[in-house]
Amino acid sequence: MDVKACIFDLDGVIVDTAVYHFKSWKRLADELGINFTLHDNERLKGVSRVRSLEIVLEIGNVTKTEAEKQELASRKNEWYTEMISKMKPDEVLPGAKEFLQLVKNAGIKTALGSASKNAGIILDKTGLTPFFDAVIDGNHVSKAKPDPEVFLKGAEAVQVDPKFCVVFEDAIAGVEAALAGGMKVVGIGSPEILSKANLVIPGLSEMDLEKLKAV
Ligand code: BG6
Ligand code: MG
Repeated sequence: MDVKACIFDLDGVIVDTAVYHFKSWKRLADELGINFTLHDNERLKGVSRVRSLEIVLEIGNVTKTEAEKQELASRKNEWYTEMISKMKPDEVLPGAKEFLQLVKNAGIKTALGSASKNAGIILDKTGLTPFFDAVIDGNHVSKAKPDPEVFLKGAEAVQVDPKFCVVFEDAIAGVEAALAGGMKVVGIGSPEILSKANLVIPGLSEMDLEKLKAV
């Protein structure tokens, strides 16, 4: 395939922020008397902030009004942003920077397609901003993955037809979003979970241009 753009999810593909999300959701859950485990945290991957909160509340069988939910979500986000503001370039996942550079050197466009509203600060703190031709994040979309909006906007921003785009995703909803957008998708994680992806690898350190063209 003639790949003209690579679109990357952020959390779980480029950086491992799941631990920061977990710590801040756990703190909130503790305050609400909800038992929230690392296992439960898996359900929040790729899911929007408000939907994540709803899942936490569901686990604890707790009901809140819309206004209360907004307040709780922003409280969690304050703790989360405090942690990610201390992130360093060495927190980039193995092989991510190298693969981004390889892709850029090959003249292929790069875009970020993330559900996070904090993508900008994470790219900034880890020194990755210059590696992306376009950044589409939770501030630019109205429909969450598995809707393809975030990836379609990414493709549009780098002016590449979706059929020449390859998406890199660690969440099932993200894999579905890429396919719904008419793109090829490389899953990052386990082949059992990401079975719909065109190719599944454990991490970007396992990726090269040959595999990219064969997707
Ligand atoms: C996704 C993460 O990238 O962004 C989710 O996988 C997270 O776990 C979502 O809930 C929204 O992030 P933020 O930074 O806007 O709260
Ligand atoms: Mg992800």
